[in-house]
Amino acid sequence: MSMEQPMDELLAGMRAIAETTRLRLLFVLSHGEFNVSELTQILGQSQPRVSRHLKLMAEAGLLSRYKEGSWVLFRLSEQTRGAALARAIVDLLPGSDSVLVSDIARLEEIRRQRAEAAALYFGTNAANWEKLRSLYVSEGDVEAAMVDLAGAGDLGNYLDLGTGTGRILSLFAGRAAQAIGIDQSREMLGVARANLEAAGLRQAQVRQGDIYALPLPNAAADFITIHQVLHYLDDPARALTEAARVLKPGGRLLIVDFAPHELEHLRDQHAHRRLGIAPDAIASWLKRADLRLVRERTLPPPRTNGSGLTVSLWLAERPAAIVAQKEQAARNRVEGNLA
Ligand SMILES: C[S@@+](CC[C@H](N)C(=O)[O-])C[C@H]1O[C@@H](n2cnc3c(N)ncnc32)[C@H](O)[C@@H]1O
Repeated sequence: MSMEQPMDELLAGMRAIAETTRLRLLFVLSHGEFNVSELTQILGQSQPRVSRHLKLMAEAGLLSRYKEGSWVLFRLSEQTRGAALARAIVDLLPGSDSVLVSDIARLEEIRRQRAEAAALYFGTNAANWEKLRSLYVSEGDVEAAMVDLAGAGDLGNYLDLGTGTGRILSLFAGRAAQAIGIDQSREMLGVARANLEAAGLRQAQVRQGDIYALPLPNAAADFITIHQVLHYLDDPARALTEAARVLKPGGRLLIVDFAPHELEHLRDQHAHRRLGIAPDAIASWLKRADLRLVRERTLPPPRTNGSGLTVSLWLAERPAAIVAQKEQAARNRVEGNLA
């Protein structure tokens, strides 16, 4: 590679950033990924204008752009040299600037509306969930694959995130010393409690809580499942980082979700935020959460069902060595500050 090339890339990135709207977009996208229409609402500018800025920044390597059904989503780039520049500029932006503060307020409002719509969906559909959950997959095959990936033996302290009506919690609770299901929907939890009672699973309990702020201490769980939940979330990376926090070193996380698909109506009618989860997205979220992918599996759509979807399973681990390294680095920093 010639010396000019990195210089050219850097200059292109700097030129692409040096404009007020683009700085605002960069700041907003440092808070998560958004589609063009959401970014238009947040910035209060016309869609063609926002699209033009986004295109320019994506071409300069500052943003990643990806298409999901009829949506085009943007996030800060993670791979290129432009990503380092984007992060460095975000760190320099004055978060107290009144324009940026208003942008983030509108962003939070959009998130609040989305969360409300999803909560309303689960509140309304709790009683039907058992039927809805089996529409696109063979539940028996998925659950057999989950049991296989979890392996034999005791599961210790087990946690099911976004437990809904508690089906996956019931699947593993019998092998756990303690089993807790967390969900934000009171209606779903009401059904889950009745199901656990009927199954006589006394070691299992459910609690209302938010996946982004789990009501649990650090390193509390040996095994966590998150089944068909990530595609509802705004910020799956943050959810996985929070799951990693409550995992013990060496603990394992089993993620199950749809592979990328094009059933747009799931977004409109069933509160899906994403049309499936791509393997490279999982890889980057796990990396950010300091989790290591151990095994993965893909289950083809059921043959009997024309509208079936492919399901992906990922088993990840919180490596004890990385936890020890991070703890040592934190101790060194504290000692450095005290010296
Ligand atoms: C599709 S259901 C899956 C339920 C269950 N895992 C299953 O497979 O049957 C997704 C669940 O995630 C819950 N959920 C969504 N966002 C959440 C959040 N931020 N915190 C806690 N639960 C959440 C919803 O209330 C809903 O019960």
